[in-house]
Amino acid sequence: MNDSDERFETLAVTYGERGQRPAPGVEDVAVPIHLSSTYAVPEIDPDASLETLDPDAGEYLYSRLSNPTRNALEHRLAALCGADDALAFASGTAAIVTAISAAVEPGDHVVAFEDLYGGTRSMLTRYFEDRLGVETTFVDARDTAEVEAAMREETSLVWMETPTNPLLRLCDVEAVAAVAEEYGATLGVDNTFVGPQFQRPLELGADVVVHSTTKYLNGHSDSIGGALATNDEAYFEEVQFLQRVGMGNMLAPFDAYLTLRGLKTLPLRMEKHASNAQAVAEFLADHSAVEAVHYPGLASHPQHELASRQMSGYGGVLSVELGTDLDGVARFVAALDHFPLAVSLGGVESLVEHPASMTHSPLSQTERDSLGISDSLLRISVGVEHEADLLADLSNALDAV
Ligand SMILES: Cc1ncc(COP(=O)(O)O)c(C=O)c1O
Repeated sequence: MNDSDERFETLAVTYGERGQRPAPGVEDVAVPIHLSSTYAVPEIDPDASLETLDPDAGEYLYSRLSNPTRNALEHRLAALCGADDALAFASGTAAIVTAISAAVEPGDHVVAFEDLYGGTRSMLTRYFEDRLGVETTFVDARDTAEVEAAMREETSLVWMETPTNPLLRLCDVEAVAAVAEEYGATLGVDNTFVGPQFQRPLELGADVVVHSTTKYLNGHSDSIGGALATNDEAYFEEVQFLQRVGMGNMLAPFDAYLTLRGLKTLPLRMEKHASNAQAVAEFLADHSAVEAVHYPGLASHPQHELASRQMSGYGGVLSVELGTDLDGVARFVAALDHFPLAVSLGGVESLVEHPASMTHSPLSQTERDSLGISDSLLRISVGVEHEADLLADLSNALDAV
């Protein structure tokens, strides 16, 4: 557990013990990019092994195993997630596949939120279930009783996202953690949508938390990466073995550098993302051309009370249903100046995305209908531009509808 007294904003930039550790003997204030793939060692040591290698003492052997830039990032990620240990991966997907692999064996069973990121859903069905014999039951985890009803003796993993994509549905992490614990299952939470400043799943009882650092943590839409953090030492050792030896899916030094750089302004950016998103959500909710707005910061969100309890901010992503058909939605998107039509989220620039034809197009129409993803639904990642410019742009585009 992170026992530091320092606050989140300090941990995001600090040069101290919990934040980043430059290579010993070199007092860089900004951690440099260490590109070397291999490191000279002082002498042959018959007692040396991978397990005894201590990067914090400057002991590096080969960059797949540990790298000074990545090591500095991993310390900072652990500090920000309130964890003992963290690892940086080549993508959010790499972090998730490793987190799940470390928790399941053939014949095991997984319970997951039905409203998961599409890639994770496909990973669970097409890879873990079809190839490895690990079955998943998808449930509407807004209701913890549904999670509990799906649990089996062989359930070894419960996998949640909150809020979900693109409908911003929540699960009660503390309540789900109690169910997972009762069944001896690992609880993993993908915290990509809000990040560690506003929601800390490990403190709510999760065993492992993952982020696609591609989104808020790096924050500048110029790096693909992932993070995993945990306080469970045995589980961490398994994840580390899989990353180093089983999969080799670690983050490259340049991306580690970019993510370290991005993290320093995470608290500043998140405050602005959240205040802009609140303003955009309120503006859209009041507009006559809008049928519904999904944002946990709105008092009208059905789980607003839960959001206020388990999140200290509501994040920068919302979705909106326009009261028009696909042509009207296309006119709205084409009329926007400050919201490029693009997938992904969490960068400083605002983006708009059409789930039915973009992120959720691999799902069948029936699956989309059952999840509530209509053709008139748009997801908006609200950036850090000036609030007034964003509202004026949206207002202008709504006139085109
Ligand atoms: C919630 C969530 N988890 C995981 C991922 C996958 O992350 P990456 O694209 O970095 O592999 C995404 C990507 O959009 C996501 O939205």
